[in-house]
Amino acid sequence: MDEIDWAARWKELVEDRATLASGHADSHYWDRRARSFARSTHARADEFLQVLEPYLGRNKTLIDVGAGTGRHTTPLAERLEWVTAVEPSEGMRSHIPQRDNITIVASTWEDAEVAPADLVICSHVMYGVAEPVPFLEKMQRSATERVFVMMRETDLPHPAAELRRRLVGQSGQRLPRFSELFMLLVQMGIAPDVSYLRYPIVTRYEDMEEALIDCRALFGDGWDEDAARAELERLLRRQDNELVFDGGLALSGVAHWQPQKS
Ligand SMILES: C[S@@+](CC[C@H](N)C(=O)[O-])C[C@H]1O[C@@H](n2cnc3c(N)ncnc32)[C@H](O)[C@@H]1O
Repeated sequence: MDEIDWAARWKELVEDRATLASGHADSHYWDRRARSFARSTHARADEFLQVLEPYLGRNKTLIDVGAGTGRHTTPLAERLEWVTAVEPSEGMRSHIPQRDNITIVASTWEDAEVAPADLVICSHVMYGVAEPVPFLEKMQRSATERVFVMMRETDLPHPAAELRRRLVGQSGQRLPRFSELFMLLVQMGIAPDVSYLRYPIVTRYEDMEEALIDCRALFGDGWDEDAARAELERLLRRQDNELVFDGGLALSGVAHWQPQKS
């Protein structure tokens, strides 16, 4: 039986996913989703920082690849000498606080020019990266001590996916998963340590308009504003001053390894 080419399979998944994955690589998509992403993730305890804990130290430096709204950059800057946050979306970057020991680089990882650091992390970024091998190799070249990559194993528990199921009949092509990252790394000659994280995913909106902006960005082709609004009225529940979607438990994996120097 032929070996699976995991890089080719990954590329196929990303390119087939005309809606979600292409959105994931598009900084304007993240500009539109930044507010609700910040609202939903900043209170989320995903234990990623506990996986990093044994490697942290006052004199260490770190690069956060696709730092988003800075939910890892910000607490890590309290524990490290320096954090470089690489983030292409202006909307997402605007949520990262200014600190003396945080440098924000407005770029994709592929185009970023950054000095190496002790640690390189990349959390929930690679779903839309069509060429994962050079992306991972650059992380290896940029880390002197350890690389950490986190991805979900379970499908995206987002109201837009549930809306698609209800309005179009299917949730659309899936994204690459953690297990595919693991197989790809093994094929690249890397045998990572793996930690699994389970955590509840709750998506929060200030109001219906914010929910519609977020879901429209993720829904892809076939968006019907009136039908989506009516369905969201049923899907979202009011809690305090927010509209809330309970996505249940997500399973994610963190692959981490000592970089190999070629
Ligand atoms: C789901 S968010 C994750 C943010 C953050 N790492 C976290 O875990 O909260 C994905 C982020 O990756 C960024 N991104 C997407 N493609 C990227 C690329 N090629 N290089 C760097 N960042 C990228 C997006 O702009 C977005 O902010």
